Amino acid sequence: MPSHASAARVAALVGSVSPSPPASVATSGAGSGPAYARLADALRHAITDGRLPEGIRLPSERELTGPVGLSRTTVTRAYAELREQGYLETRRGSGSVVRLPEVPGGRVDHLLSPASLDSEALDLTCTAQAAPTGLAEAYAQALAELPCYLAGTGYYPSGIPVLREGIAQRFTERGLPTDPEQVIVTAGALGGVATAAGALVRRRDPVLVESPTYPNVISALTGTGARLVPHPIDHLASDWDLPGLTAAVRSSGARAAYLIPDFHNPTGALMNGDQRRELARVLRAAGTVAIVDESLVDLPLDGQEMPAPLASHLPTAITVGSASKTLWGGLRVGWVRAPRGRVEELANSRLRQDLGTPVLEQLATAHLLSRYDAVLAERHAQLRAGRDVLVEGLAEHLPDWRVRVPGGGMALWCALPMPGSTALAVAAREHGVVLASGPNFAPAGGLDGWVRLPYALPPERLAQVPARLAAAWEDVVRGRVRLGTDLRRREHDRRIIA
Ligand SMILES: Cc1ncc(COP(=O)(O)O)c(C=O)c1O
Repeated sequence: MPSHASAARVAALVGSVSPSPPASVATSGAGSGPAYARLADALRHAITDGRLPEGIRLPSERELTGPVGLSRTTVTRAYAELREQGYLETRRGSGSVVRLPEVPGGRVDHLLSPASLDSEALDLTCTAQAAPTGLAEAYAQALAELPCYLAGTGYYPSGIPVLREGIAQRFTERGLPTDPEQVIVTAGALGGVATAAGALVRRRDPVLVESPTYPNVISALTGTGARLVPHPIDHLASDWDLPGLTAAVRSSGARAAYLIPDFHNPTGALMNGDQRRELARVLRAAGTVAIVDESLVDLPLDGQEMPAPLASHLPTAITVGSASKTLWGGLRVGWVRAPRGRVEELANSRLRQDLGTPVLEQLATAHLLSRYDAVLAERHAQLRAGRDVLVEGLAEHLPDWRVRVPGGGMALWCALPMPGSTALAVAAREHGVVLASGPNFAPAGGLDGWVRLPYALPPERLAQVPARLAAAWEDVVRGRVRLGTDLRRREHDRRIIA
């Protein structure tokens, strides 16, 4: 991402905002009213839409006057308005930098990040990025289509048809022919897992899970009363131990298995095609139903071909997907792909949670899916840069941490030279980094020798992480971190991790 936008680029983005605007101005976001207000509107539109991303430096007021054809006073007033609204920050010597205004009460819920977190802290509790370019535009298109839905009740418990079609088409393109009737839209992938578990799992049923695994699913499955059967996956080899898994499936008699075969969270492991075929055979023979979480499937970062979906080898599998990792977490859109014979059972389970996902969000998601390749290209480039910055920085500042560089997904899973992940999370806060320690990912305790580092923040922010972590790790190694039971519990109880 360039660090500054040239005057010509900004002028092209805002279109004409001269005193008598042509008809096209309204659609370019320039609005009506005095010229300074139209310029401010057009700039705000480009900022909220991601075309002028947060952190980019705008041309000076003097530089912009010529290319936009407005007086210096007009440009100065427009910048002043944006500053007042929180879209620009001007510092002597460094010019005017784009900002996104703070949400009253903070950008993220206190359950995700501690309330005391200062805005300069680097929050590594989430494998999720800021909204992509074009998100506000997708909402604008959705809003324009909303009138078609107003004559109905707005309840679509399985999702609106256009989105179900878009999701089904994507499965079909990936080699898993899918009818829109098999798709149930949910509140994120987490809602999808809850839908699957609600249909399948009864109290005390054994459910196989990988260890480590995604923390919120540990809570969701435990909440259904399931008895979790953890199966260790080999973190550094980034691999599944199929003979071990087979033995665990057979001996536990697991009713269901929750699996993340595509850039597994937190390890980043990718199950290969042979392993998928073998696993399908084992699960089929045992009558164990797979709940396959594909939340990260669209994030291969090295241009590699992805193996066919697990469900293409295992027709009984229930596949869960999400818009959160590639589009935006704020959409709260996910889905379940049900096997043909299970659609009604899963739709009923989804109904027991709530009566559907909001129509506007579904419409916006459908729009983004219609130009998914462009969104993915942007996501892949950002994540690749973030991953590489973090890997290089760790090699320099923490050479005795062991990391296997994942081919995709959003996080590094690092082996520490000694157990101390909980203490590290406590120390890291003092150095301005918020972490989810290894034990959060452990279905049955342990994993204090591991830490997950997401690379979802912008690369320039991630570049600051390794030095801060090295200082925090030094505190741990020198025994400067004292963990009372309270602190230990607090670190492990925070299971609201994305
Ligand atoms: C494997 C996995 N499943 C589910 C989720 C939750 O996704 P959503 O926001 O779609 O509920 C995440 C988020 O980090 C995840 O990594």
